[in-house]
Amino acid sequence: MEQYIMKGGNPLVGEVNISGAKNAALGILAAAIMTDEDVLIDNLPDVRDINVLLEAIAEIGATVERIDSHTVRINAGKIKEVSVDDEFIRKIRASYYFIGALLGKYKSAEVPLPGGCNIGSRPIDQHLKGFKALGAKVDIVKGSVVAHAIDLVGSHIYLDVVSVGATINIMMAAALAEGQTILENVAKEPHVVDVANFLNSMGANIKGAGTDVIRIKGVTKLHGTEYSVIPDQIEAGTFMCAAAATRGDITVKNVIPKHLEAISAKLAEIGCEIVEFDDAVRVVGKPKQHSTNIKTLPYPGFPTDMQPQMAVTLALAEGTSMVTESIFENRFKYVDELARMGGSIKVEGNVAVIDGVKNFTGAQVEAPDLRAGAALVIAGLAADGYTVVDEIGYIQRGYEQFEKKLQSLGAVIEKVDSEKEARKFQFRVG
Ligand code: EPZ
Repeated sequence: MEQYIMKGGNPLVGEVNISGAKNAALGILAAAIMTDEDVLIDNLPDVRDINVLLEAIAEIGATVERIDSHTVRINAGKIKEVSVDDEFIRKIRASYYFIGALLGKYKSAEVPLPGGCNIGSRPIDQHLKGFKALGAKVDIVKGSVVAHAIDLVGSHIYLDVVSVGATINIMMAAALAEGQTILENVAKEPHVVDVANFLNSMGANIKGAGTDVIRIKGVTKLHGTEYSVIPDQIEAGTFMCAAAATRGDITVKNVIPKHLEAISAKLAEIGCEIVEFDDAVRVVGKPKQHSTNIKTLPYPGFPTDMQPQMAVTLALAEGTSMVTESIFENRFKYVDELARMGGSIKVEGNVAVIDGVKNFTGAQVEAPDLRAGAALVIAGLAADGYTVVDEIGYIQRGYEQFEKKLQSLGAVIEKVDSEKEARKFQFRVG
């Protein structure tokens, strides 16, 4: 089983290019099947979730041409199936976007319910509420969502919960419904806006993405397009926290600083120096960083996907911090792993009380999920001695060339897949 092994203690210094946003690309790739014409998408992150989704798109009969590891041409003119294969879909959560895309285009979809994952139950009741409001009949049959509609007709939908997935999924189905759909209490994340912009580049008529109300005027057809995915706000934030936790100096490049404001603000609050450029942000960690409080909220609030990485940074700051996770019910699984490195965090309900310590000591830990895994790597790079992070498949789902980008910043880290390789690493770095 592949692992990351690292020797901590080096401040991370330098520049790192941020890849395209995984959570925008997943919605965009699903929406790409809504036209029968060619769609060219670039700045895709070369990560496992994207590659699995592309396999699933090819599986239902679309042609998928990989131009290079970040660019793909898709033509869904020959899709023969509106029932998506279970094998691929079980692997990723964003498979639920096939429902909105297929229902919008073919008025029919059969997609296995996505499994839950380690951060919470992840229901999709709001997605289904939206499809039903547009006139679809939706049933759960043998573990799959089966949705059919004679016609999709625009409707006024108010989401009970601010949901990124439901906002994107309903937006896709409504893009090809008759008449106007008003979608309220929507998610405003940058990746929601990116999917809306992508659909509009295909001829959809979507206004208000990024605000509390999205208005969609259904069109009869969508045409081909060429589109570039926005930079990944969470990958950028992860490297920003790595600079703070290792007291380094990292400039994240090819970013949209506005998308990083909540993260920059919190790092400035604990004492880091933040310098913003047009398409880059520089974070300089300071020897004395102090506590603050975090509450995860829908955008533009502090992102839940940055909660573990910020918690690790606070665990190495002076004083006591409170981290409240208000989006998911089970997103503190990394706390026990961090305790093995000397972290002092107590979890009570959805609040983690963090007592900062001077340093961590390296240990063998296990990634419980994607973002917590990245946070444990940051902890290992800040720790004294060696750390091994297990189950790095989670991390590879969302971070492109993670260890290579870290190495370019001076991290002593390698991906190994045997005890022998780990010993060779330790012998080599001493
Ligand atoms: C997206 O998940 C992201 N995944 C998640 O990123 C991210 O944490 C999350 O949005 C919040 O920003 C992708 O985009 C593929 P939600 P999603 O629907 O859409 C509840 C990562 O690390 N809810 O916004 O599934 C839900 O339980 C991943 O890249 C319902 O109750 O999240 C949660 O408490 C992890 N009913 C809250 O809403 C629904 O129908 C927010 O979930 C849908 C959601």
